[in-house]
Amino acid sequence: MQQISTARLVLICAGLYVIAVLTSTCSSSKPAPAPPHAPELWGDMKPVVSVKELMRDMLDPIADNIFDAVKIVQTEQGTVETVPKTDEDWEKIRIGAVTLAEGAYLLKIPRPFAPPGDLNNSTGPDAVELAPAQITAKVEKDPVEWNARIEALRNVGLEVLDIVKRKDVNELWDASENLDKACENCHRSYWYPGEDDSFYQKLSRRLQEHREQPSHSDGTVKSPK
Ligand code: HEC
Repeated sequence: MQQISTARLVLICAGLYVIAVLTSTCSSSKPAPAPPHAPELWGDMKPVVSVKELMRDMLDPIADNIFDAVKIVQTEQGTVETVPKTDEDWEKIRIGAVTLAEGAYLLKIPRPFAPPGDLNNSTGPDAVELAPAQITAKVEKDPVEWNARIEALRNVGLEVLDIVKRKDVNELWDASENLDKACENCHRSYWYPGEDDSFYQKLSRRLQEHREQPSHSDGTVKSPK
């Protein structure tokens, strides 16, 4: 086999380099069409827990970073108002906002609504909650509403993020209300649609019956769930 001289090799390499540069400049003028089945994610997304556990162990506790940042609590000494003051206070709110805004999309991954065998409070005469299978059926029938509820939660996360940048306490009060609504609206539709007006009438009747007993509440005014 004939030996290629070093000089010639360098020439070949240089030639190849020029071709490579030329083709890349040419092709960069018109963007390459996206491959037909471009994945929207960089990989699979696999759920770890049910919706119920995602609520209990992630979205609910982290929402408290926002709910607890602005609140009014009645104590025996009087009314105590909490608002964010230090950079650390605002940082905690930002952590809540980012986790809610990003975490909301975890609700788009199909996952069981409750752990196996957990039927929610869906049996018995006073049952107000849907069973996990009923929630699944409702979401499958109208995924548009489910996604809209998720977007609503995400939007409050984005709103709070913006407020943190401006450290606007007044707006944070409103955003906390909005957050409460974003949680509640989804719960009322998917989790406990049985909690209608008649449910609350029954509840207040029952509360009246128990009024004589002393309450052990800590007096927290705002404790949304
Ligand atoms: C897109 C709908 C949706 C949004 C938004 C949502 N949730 Fe939920 N949440 C559910 C559903 C559905 C369940 C009931 C799942 C089940 O038990 O089958 C639930 C259950 C819960 C539970 C009960 C967990 C348990 O251990 O019983 C808590 C607490 C909760 N959510 C808190 C929140 C809070 C706080 C927010 C707002 C920051 C929120 N959720 C926003 C759909 C939602």
